[in-house]
Amino acid sequence: MKNTIVTFKEWKNSGKKLTMLTAYDYSMAKLIDEAGVNAILVGDSLGMVCLGYEDTLSVTMEDMIHHTKAVSRGVKNALIVADMPFMSYQTSVYDAVFNAGRLIKEGRAHAVKLEGGAQVAEQIRAIVNCSIPVMGHLGLTPQSINTFGGFKVQGRDADAAKKLIEDAKIIEAAGAFAIVLECIPAKLSEIITSEISIPTIGIGAGKYCDGQILVYQDMLGMFSDFKPKFVKQYADTDSIIKNAIKNYISEVQKSIFPSEEYEFKIDETTLNKLY
Ligand code: KIV
Repeated sequence: MKNTIVTFKEWKNSGKKLTMLTAYDYSMAKLIDEAGVNAILVGDSLGMVCLGYEDTLSVTMEDMIHHTKAVSRGVKNALIVADMPFMSYQTSVYDAVFNAGRLIKEGRAHAVKLEGGAQVAEQIRAIVNCSIPVMGHLGLTPQSINTFGGFKVQGRDADAAKKLIEDAKIIEAAGAFAIVLECIPAKLSEIITSEISIPTIGIGAGKYCDGQILVYQDMLGMFSDFKPKFVKQYADTDSIIKNAIKNYISEVQKSIFPSEEYEFKIDETTLNKLY
């Protein structure tokens, strides 16, 4: 089934849970798409899980376009959402529209995601006016890590919680088709989810959201630098990969691999001409 932003609307209305995962390259995007998620996010989390930075702040438009292109070549059915990196939309409405356009034209994404509430409403409205669907992102927005003072749960006091509810309504009014809610109390995301008509996609935001998203390296147990509390590990790929690599090293060192079945043949007469 081909997923579009209409699918998001319909599934919210019918109460069916939406699923999203991140992907950053062709082969993983193909696997995730074939498994049947509704949408793939080319997240700026690639700065951490693919490029080894300690946060997402150094990710560039060129990084995002490069990875989005690779993902889009592997996907048939999922909606592809590309993250707008730090300082590609905060600087001006013009920059926001220009850079969103690049992710669609060059990256072949179907939609873009950007972080923040009221302060980016103008940008969201302008991008949507260019027929580019926008996904919002509230709560623990990693591009604001330096103002939060770390990766911390957001919306725990009444003022902060009220502000998040207000921001969600502003983003909806600006034209976003969905909102990611990251690291906020479950009961707060329940309120937000019931007060807006666009789907909420949770990550560390509990079960009441209209859908869920995880970073694939986290849910497959492939990223050991940091394990957030909200991540459920569905596989221990880390040890599967390490064991396979250790086997390979050992078999090469013992001349077990490559055995005859992995060789190419040459006929004897040709071979004799070589001596
Ligand atoms: O960059 C990312 O992977 C994200 C998700 C955590 C929602 O924004």
